[in-house]
Amino acid sequence: MATLLLLNGPNLDRLGDREPDIYGHDTLAHITDRLAAQVKSAGHRFEAFQTNAEHAMIEKIHAARGKVEGIVINPGAWGHTSLALADALALAEVPYIEVHISNVFARGGRRAELMLAGGASGLIIGCGSRGYDLAVAALLARFS
Ligand code: DQA
Repeated sequence: MATLLLLNGPNLDRLGDREPDIYGHDTLAHITDRLAAQVKSAGHRFEAFQTNAEHAMIEKIHAARGKVEGIVINPGAWGHTSLALADALALAEVPYIEVHISNVFARGGRRAELMLAGGASGLIIGCGSRGYDLAVAALLARFS
């Protein structure tokens, strides 16, 4: 039995009422429940964590080392800015898939820079909140 960890960064706790034309109407609670069911029905453990504090996210990733077999992470804006998060994911040595709900490349500017992408085992971008489900399916395939 493996453990899959879902991580969401800043402002993603506001999904549902945050710029719904860009991010849709799915709430983070709804997405998390859906993914938990997906992981548990495959016979694995599921954990989820969201924070608006970068240090808390880094500490959560540190704690995942040796305890978690796969991470799905939507780093939010930190994906465009945070070398510290990239370093934390590298030292954790846990395969991760980076998800962005919106097509960050179509939005221009700094959003086209993805600091975590080079270390990721996969990227799912612009598929809406269903991108999380795709990322979970890809990690579950690695577990079996
Ligand atoms: C996002 C894209 C980021 O550019 C933005 O800062 C977010 C959400 C997405 O899921 O599309 O917070 O990660």
